[in-house]
Amino acid sequence: MTFPVIGVVGGGQLARMMAPAATALGFELRVLAEAEDVSAVSAVAKAPIGDYTDLDHLLEFSRGLDVMTFDHEHVPTAHLRSLIAAGVNVHPGPDALVNAQDKLVMRAAIDRLELPNPRWAAVADVAELIAFGEDTGWPVVLKMPRGGYDGKGVRIVGSADEAGESADWFHAMSPLLAEAKVDFSRELSAMVARTPDGESRAWPVVHTIQVDGVCDEVIAPALDIPVEVAAAAENAAVRIATELGVTGVMAVELFETPGVGAGFLINELAMRPHNTGHWTQDGSVTSQFEQHLRAILNLPLGATDLLGPVVVMKNFLGGENQDLFSAYPAALAWEPAAKVHCYGKAVRPGRKIGHVNLVGDSAAGVATVRSRATAVADIIRTGRPQAGAAPETSQETA
Ligand SMILES: Nc1ncnc2c1ncn2[C@@H]1O[C@H](COP(=O)(O)OP(=O)(O)OP(=O)(O)O)[C@@H](O)[C@H]1O
Ligand SMILES: [Mg+2]
Repeated sequence: MTFPVIGVVGGGQLARMMAPAATALGFELRVLAEAEDVSAVSAVAKAPIGDYTDLDHLLEFSRGLDVMTFDHEHVPTAHLRSLIAAGVNVHPGPDALVNAQDKLVMRAAIDRLELPNPRWAAVADVAELIAFGEDTGWPVVLKMPRGGYDGKGVRIVGSADEAGESADWFHAMSPLLAEAKVDFSRELSAMVARTPDGESRAWPVVHTIQVDGVCDEVIAPALDIPVEVAAAAENAAVRIATELGVTGVMAVELFETPGVGAGFLINELAMRPHNTGHWTQDGSVTSQFEQHLRAILNLPLGATDLLGPVVVMKNFLGGENQDLFSAYPAALAWEPAAKVHCYGKAVRPGRKIGHVNLVGDSAAGVATVRSRATAVADIIRTGRPQAGAAPETSQETA
């Protein structure tokens, strides 16, 4: 057998969703799991338990792999360098990945590339935070440069009087990242994949909706975005991938700022499949999970065209319903065109446990597509069928 063996560090839903793509192409996917009950374990044949902060565990896991990649961005840079020194083929590599691990490093890189950043500064203490706020104007967004996710590690500081409340954060980490609070019209995501040889392909820019700092819904493509803004955002993503030497899939989170500068500012980078790319599983010729595997194996990349004029992805977080499967009859009957993706995770309030993808027939009908995807997600989350009967097949699904 000459088919490659791919190892994913981390056993979350992203690793889990790489498994069907690997299986389809005949690759073996292994996962270094944090525990026996994490999401990806039931999707692959080999999922040894190990600690990604322990170099010995990483080296042990690397044996027999053709390439090592990641479900998350938390493997220490020094460990990645040691793995490479030991001959492991690691993608993305440490010099690229640090830009997704450390928001201060990322802001400096975006400045260097002369791409549009919000106003920002590294602030070492409350006094420097106040100085930044007085200069830039309040409110200010204060961020932990490392370790944040789903809005944890992001705080809005309304005024100089409020700045003192962030003293605890400066004790935990210093310097922190201070940013101007951007007055955006919507949030966007530009996703791209790049191979070690330098081939890159972008998906169309999408509209992402966050609730309480967590991705809730994605609409692909971002409707009514000026063509030049969409093109500039896609070009920026390709340029970042190229200049930073990114391999695999990367998401560039953006703030849309109509009529101001380039029409967008860069929020942050993620160097792995991303929640804002889940729509590609059912709505693009090539899913982000397949593209990630192709990219890290230095294979030709797949087409990124949409499979319909509009695609909606709706997340469902842990809610009242503990028995998700009990809701499937009602959820699947409600919208036969919906594709449900469930992560096999224990239901806990606010935890990402699955999502629904729905391809629509016309961009004009986006409101209907959104409400149907949302209805299916709500039925699963709450365990309660929607009021009234399931709608008859309408033009979106006919
Ligand atoms: N400078 C800013 N101006 C306005 N809103 C912001 C700013 N920075 C962040 N936000 C809001 O907070 C959300 C979370 O911020 P950010 O993406 O930096 O954090 P995160 O915890 O790393 O997120 P993720 O869930 O993508 O891991 C953003 O999606 C946006 O809604
Ligand atoms: Mg983010």
